[in-house]
Amino acid sequence: MRRFLTIACVATFQVCAPACGATQSALEPMGPASAELFRLIWFFTALSAVIWLAVIAVMITAIIRRDRARGDPLALDASRERRATGWVTIATGATAIVLIGLTLSSYFSNRTLAGIGADAVLTIRITGHQWWWEVRYENEQPSRVLTTANEIHIPSGEPVRLVLASTDVIHSFWVPSLAGKLDLIPGHENVLELRADKPGVYRGQCAEFCGFQHAHMGILIIAEPRPEFDAWLEHQLQPAPLPASGEEQAGHDLFMNRPCVMCHKIGGTTAGGIVGPNLTHVSSRTTLAAGTLPMDESSLAAWITDPQSIKPGAHMPVIDLGGDDLRSIVAYLDRLK
Ligand code: CUA
Repeated sequence: MRRFLTIACVATFQVCAPACGATQSALEPMGPASAELFRLIWFFTALSAVIWLAVIAVMITAIIRRDRARGDPLALDASRERRATGWVTIATGATAIVLIGLTLSSYFSNRTLAGIGADAVLTIRITGHQWWWEVRYENEQPSRVLTTANEIHIPSGEPVRLVLASTDVIHSFWVPSLAGKLDLIPGHENVLELRADKPGVYRGQCAEFCGFQHAHMGILIIAEPRPEFDAWLEHQLQPAPLPASGEEQAGHDLFMNRPCVMCHKIGGTTAGGIVGPNLTHVSSRTTLAAGTLPMDESSLAAWITDPQSIKPGAHMPVIDLGGDDLRSIVAYLDRLK
């Protein structure tokens, strides 16, 4: 029953999430990259539809006008052969023209896509993991390099460059309202450039089957006006907030003395693990477990108590905690805004 309720909860959140303000549709382009792809999709679809209709029309005409009176089907009729040769030549020429047209439109679209990030204001390195996204804002000053997870904030109206890589298997980065799909491949970097024309929350999803929890590998791009983005970045660069109550302090101490620190980093503390998501400002994010749960205290408690029933196969182990310890750790993590 508990398992059923967990699955029902997760499923409801997954279905509602896009409807609750996050856009996720290639048919709703919100930036130049997705708009270019949208035009290309419609051009290919419209042209293919016209060709399909023409083929069907020719087939129906042939069926209606078939020559029932002809005795020997192999008998040659010179004038009929000449006409047939003419039509085949026209059809071959038309096919070549269509193929060249489609290739050229694809080429020019690619050229447009390649030019979007020419003046990129940010380089963000996205590393795919089973089953979450590591997000690192590159900077020449090491103290201004920011590592976070599963949510990418960008300034709206400004192009950004995403460098895509993976440490385990092939994943695929796809935020359809802003850009096309691009794979994250172990040992190889791909570059995706995009711009969000308007502030908003754009949902994305891993688009390459990458194992058991592929479907629970969501990502959000949050585009904000420049001042809000700068404020967000400055805040994220700060070390984690200090515990403000006895319970939070107890949670902090537990976290630092439990296996949590082996996998997670919390800036400004001794927790320095890099296997799992960076938790320095974890509760400032809007979702937990890569878009699987809404971020709040009850989700944190559910996730820590039994990650395997929410995301079976996830690399987050079950850590045996008593009720008080759980409450303390949740209070501390909830403090990390
Ligand atoms: Cu990562 Cu599918």
